[in-house]
Amino acid sequence: MNHESDDTPKILVTGATGRVGSSVLNHLLESGKKVRIFVRDPTKVSGFGANVEVRMGDLSKADTISEALMGIERVFLVTGATEQDSDVIVEAKKQGVRQVVKLSTQEAGMPDVKGHSHWHREREKLIESSGLAWTFLRPTMFMDTALQWAGSIKAEGIVRFPAGDGRVAPIDPDDVGAVGATALMSDAHFYKAYELTGSELLSIREMVETLSHVIGRQIRYVDIPESVVKEQFLKMNLPEYVADGLVETFQNVRAGRFAYRTQVVESLLGRPALTFENWCRKNHSGFQ
Ligand SMILES: NC(=O)c1ccc[n+]([C@@H]2O[C@H](COP(=O)([O-])OP(=O)(O)OC[C@H]3O[C@@H](n4cnc5c(N)ncnc54)[C@H](OP(=O)(O)O)[C@@H]3O)[C@@H](O)[C@H]2O)c1
Repeated sequence: MNHESDDTPKILVTGATGRVGSSVLNHLLESGKKVRIFVRDPTKVSGFGANVEVRMGDLSKADTISEALMGIERVFLVTGATEQDSDVIVEAKKQGVRQVVKLSTQEAGMPDVKGHSHWHREREKLIESSGLAWTFLRPTMFMDTALQWAGSIKAEGIVRFPAGDGRVAPIDPDDVGAVGATALMSDAHFYKAYELTGSELLSIREMVETLSHVIGRQIRYVDIPESVVKEQFLKMNLPEYVADGLVETFQNVRAGRFAYRTQVVESLLGRPALTFENWCRKNHSGFQ
């Protein structure tokens, strides 16, 4: 039963300290919404003002979720494991939540692709069968992938990436966040899966050229085999099945399976998707 006043936030944002969740939060605040955020680390969230209510918790500890959902109608969901989606669904149904907007991935809409998409699709299916209204955001590769290149750019002026000349239409996570906020503000987005891409088809080589131009430094793109990347993931202690999932995505980039654009960002936001050059200008300092 909901004992909350009308002044209580009706939207809960998880992942609010992350790339997409923080953008969702900012866009909701810009639209004048009150928002509750669910965070693990209080030191990461300060200075938001009166329209943000903070609830501490951890999605991998089911008992911390229930209280955060009290009085909530819509949830922005960023999860790292299927059990987290299950736990949120159970509590959301108990608390009378109406809609879950889930951050998924482009590959979840591709029937014969596995790896990361396999886990996202598994979670989408749970939400579909929950009886809650759902909206799935299926973005392609985030432009922020380029931040992973900062170390080798600074040290050697090189980007190593296993993609050949395969093209993608990378998306600014802020566009994903803007779509997420839009989806949380109207019932018109119930039962929709949005495949989100940027506005430009670019190879990694072309992304590197743009970045090189913006930061004013020569950068060389070196195509590397997926097996080398897998070794690096294993050295980082990623489980082998996760490394294999990521490698499968790279193989699909190389094969050109992501070489197309959708118009969803433009049609939902009423403006073109943000460009990679714009992203490079915003993130210039990360490469100095
Ligand atoms: N990167 C890409 O190119 C790409 C493309 C398509 C889809 N995606 C999908 O996008 C998602 C990642 O989004 P993102 O980049 O915004 O993530 P991110 O920046 O890594 O942020 C993750 C957020 O989740 C929070 N979090 C993690 N574990 C938690 C837990 N147990 N309990 C509560 N909060 C927890 C983190 O909080 P802390 O600050 O406490 O860590 C953080 O706020 C993934 O599902 C990925 O598959 C990524």
